[in-house]
Amino acid sequence: MPASNEKAAGAERSRPIGVFDSGIGGLTVVSALRALLPNESIFYLGDTARVPYGGKSAATVQRYSLEIASMLLEENAKTVVVACNTASAVALPQLTESVPVRVTGVILPGAQAAVAATRSGHVGVIGTRATIKSGAYERALRSLNPEIRVTARACPLLVPLIEEGWLEQPITDQIILKYVGPLVDEGIDTLVLGCTHYPLLRKAMARLLGDSITLVDSAQNCANAVRDLLVRENLRAPETDTGRLQVALTDQPDSFLRVAREALQLDVGEIQLREVSPHVHQ
Ligand code: DGL
Repeated sequence: MPASNEKAAGAERSRPIGVFDSGIGGLTVVSALRALLPNESIFYLGDTARVPYGGKSAATVQRYSLEIASMLLEENAKTVVVACNTASAVALPQLTESVPVRVTGVILPGAQAAVAATRSGHVGVIGTRATIKSGAYERALRSLNPEIRVTARACPLLVPLIEEGWLEQPITDQIILKYVGPLVDEGIDTLVLGCTHYPLLRKAMARLLGDSITLVDSAQNCANAVRDLLVRENLRAPETDTGRLQVALTDQPDSFLRVAREALQLDVGEIQLREVSPHVHQ
């Protein structure tokens, strides 16, 4: 390859991975990406002006997701990662169709991890109302193993508790047990944490549910899927690159940023602000 072409290909591969979530919970995915792909730069965009997505209609979440993905393209993203279960559950087909770079969601990677983990073949899924209503996890799990039994439950109170930083409080324990206890009684042996906030409750859930329930979060598997995609598309950043993390939000950061930063031990640097621009990519 002529030197000028090689330089151009290097510049192409040094473009950031664009990651978005309705808010800050998607930093759990960023944390996994940073650990796995230290040479990759990441531009994270959290739609904090409009969080939560979990109680909104599919049409609204689709519109928001297309707008946020367009903003990532303006940041020169070489690929887009949907680090939000709600957006992955209801907007992935629209994103895949209208975004001119490859898009990775969190549902399929989470389902793959659950299918690999279950021994009894009975998997529990928890998430926001929109995620559970969409049936996206059931479809993904059954596409991987048609025999699998799935029990899903919306847990709308967990996101506010996490954002409040109540990760290890008796009231949080009670609510976890109220939501998840019936799934355990029904015989699940694997529980998919189908919301990017929930890994912050992983410790509490492991303590409450014990060793007999395997907890699956999609962050690690999603990072693996992104690595495989970059390799396949010849988009891996050059090894000489030092991956840089930029975090932007659509509204001023609130106290949840501190909670996530501490829980994930992630250096998010100075937070940038971006105004939501109307959806342009058709
Ligand atoms: N990030 C969302 C998800 O993973 C949870 C927060 C919300 O409702 O927007 O489903």
